[in-house]
Amino acid sequence: MIRKLFVTTALPYANGHFHIGHIMEYIQADIWVRLQRMQGHMVHFVGADDAHGAPIMIAAEKAGQTPQEFVAAIASGRKQYLDGFHIRFDNWHSTDSPENTELAQGIYRRLRDRGLIATRTIEQFYDPVKGMFLPDRYIKGECPRCAAKDQYGDSCEVCGAVYSPTELKNPYSTLTGATPELRSSEHHFFRLSDPEIVAFLKEWTQDGRLQPEVARKAGEWFEAGLADWDISRDAPYFGIEIPDAPGKYFYVWLDAPIGYLASLKNHFDRGQAAQHWHEASRTNQSFDEFVADPGVEQVHFIGKDIVYFHTLFWPAMLKFADRKVPQAVNVHGFITVSGEKMSKSRGTGIDPLKYLRLGLNPEWLRYYLAAKLNARVEDVDFNPDDFVARVNADLVGKYVNIASRCANFIHKHFEGALAPLVDDDGQPLKLIPLEAVRSREAAILEALDKRDYARAIRDTMSAADEINQYFDAAKPWELARQADQLQGGSALHEVLSGCMEGFKYLTLFLAPILPETTARAFRFLGFDEPLTWAQRAVPVTTIRPYEHLMTRVDAKLLDQLFDLPAADAGKDGKDGQAAAKNGDKGNKGGKEAKAGAPAPAASAAVADGPLPGGEAIAPTITIDDFAKVDLRIARIVNAEHVEGSDKLLRLTLDVGEGRTRNVFSGIKSAYRPEDLVGKLTVMVANLAPRKMKFGVSEGMVLAASHADEKAQPGIYVLEPVAGAQPGMRVR
Ligand code: 2FM
Ligand code: ZN
Repeated sequence: MIRKLFVTTALPYANGHFHIGHIMEYIQADIWVRLQRMQGHMVHFVGADDAHGAPIMIAAEKAGQTPQEFVAAIASGRKQYLDGFHIRFDNWHSTDSPENTELAQGIYRRLRDRGLIATRTIEQFYDPVKGMFLPDRYIKGECPRCAAKDQYGDSCEVCGAVYSPTELKNPYSTLTGATPELRSSEHHFFRLSDPEIVAFLKEWTQDGRLQPEVARKAGEWFEAGLADWDISRDAPYFGIEIPDAPGKYFYVWLDAPIGYLASLKNHFDRGQAAQHWHEASRTNQSFDEFVADPGVEQVHFIGKDIVYFHTLFWPAMLKFADRKVPQAVNVHGFITVSGEKMSKSRGTGIDPLKYLRLGLNPEWLRYYLAAKLNARVEDVDFNPDDFVARVNADLVGKYVNIASRCANFIHKHFEGALAPLVDDDGQPLKLIPLEAVRSREAAILEALDKRDYARAIRDTMSAADEINQYFDAAKPWELARQADQLQGGSALHEVLSGCMEGFKYLTLFLAPILPETTARAFRFLGFDEPLTWAQRAVPVTTIRPYEHLMTRVDAKLLDQLFDLPAADAGKDGKDGQAAAKNGDKGNKGGKEAKAGAPAPAASAAVADGPLPGGEAIAPTITIDDFAKVDLRIARIVNAEHVEGSDKLLRLTLDVGEGRTRNVFSGIKSAYRPEDLVGKLTVMVANLAPRKMKFGVSEGMVLAASHADEKAQPGIYVLEPVAGAQPGMRVR
């Protein structure tokens, strides 16, 4: 039976770029979606930006942008991550969209008409300077128990006390510093405590569709009792207006999951949906027909921190608005790095773009994460040594190894042709490599479908082990010698053909995880189309010339992924000194000179004589030293004065990363900000971020000046010749 699937991942807030946690979730879902498609099932896989809410509104204001501009800038940076890690959503949309407004208001009206919306007046802190009600996170004060200062409104980090913001002593707004006032306002509530809703949720959460630990957690929530859910916020708020309630907006978490449907609707309305179906099962359903189709399974992938929203509020909203409820909510744990929870503020963890920039293969990460993921809500630890060992030992040492060691023999002795693996009666031969894969096939498929990728990979690799052992035991190099002598070689042909057929199955098992490598492997095996699960019985008949499938991980390169900015700086300092000495030697050999260091620099390194710029040339460095400095073309998207500084301008630079950087530059004496905006320049893009009085500076702009600026004033910012683009490296 062909499944019809609607698959989503949690919608990321549009106030930051993807971190490794997002990428892990998307990889998990992408693998599952690819597996379904390989089986001929129909899938719509969509995502969107979660655009609304007070934090985004406030961040936009700080950036001097409208929330829409702010969100659009973040959205424009998404593609490089998704493409980079081969994550293939069918559509990416936004919760700040006409579709979402229509759907959210429609769902709300249904719930209201059913009597499931209540209004109640509540008291809340209000910032009189900002003119808005304050979300808890923007209120701080002294702990009511231990009097520790600067504690958040919900709990004390010093003594651990838990309280509500109104209990804080001397509360203040972190937005303006003002003392908040208690004001009352009418709020709208979704009546989750309604007995009908509770009864539905008890059934829905406990009928086996959820992971056991998630169902257990839901059970605890029922024991504690479900409270009605406050779904409204007062203006000013970046969100969707509540119908018939002027000045009231939906709380961001009300419209966020509806964004799943909005993205799907956008996908349908743009006429793209039909293209993604498997040719044979193309459908002409409209969005409304599709979401009403009882045969459609709605499947969400989410992290463990947002289970409450997805297993209580969301199914209840859908159910009581007469819509399809989720078939599954697949919950995963967090990702830790070497056993530690990552901290974005310290800049540790794994930066996905840095990973790509370093030239690390995205499929290594897909494989490694898959090897660690199972169907339970467990955290996944990224351990660099383990990463190197797994990728090198499994993927290169076991899987790719089979193809690379067989290919030469097959081309040399059989012109690329494989032997049919049947006996004289046409019965399939019981060869070890075939048994190794066929005996595991069903279990591997089941493990992948149940998201126990770790088990699927274990089984796949143990099949690869058996195939490699079979190859070793058969000693094809000896068979080849005999084959040459006897002008025949059917034994050799059988061994190699068996291994290739086994390799085809391994490729199939790994296809959802390694889409690029396996696509190349299929071409090597003589297939022009991507292999589907149903076609797996099509035997390999002729192989193409072997081309390298995958390289080993260079542990040193991986180390660079974890270099902290500060550590980078320190290390570079030391290396720099060592390299300077080597550089002297290198120059004698002429190597560096040829590679680009101009000859005069070598002699000037020892000369003290001042040049017109007022300073001697610095000691010689090698080309490798220079390569450590990552210079990039940057566009100055904004420039402004820095209050309280008579030297600095605050520059907002775009180096094509999908985000902008904040850089303070001591060029105020030479430039008016408005003259710089829009210009291209050159920046040091890998300089350790520096905390300055006015904020963090994330790089440095290059400018020329005399050593004695007082005597010979003048600062000249570098500008490339026309044609250079932001993000290009300067070398
Ligand atoms: O936790 C988060 O990052 C939310 N933006 C997830 C929303 S998921 C769905 F409801 F949109
Ligand atoms: Zn305290």
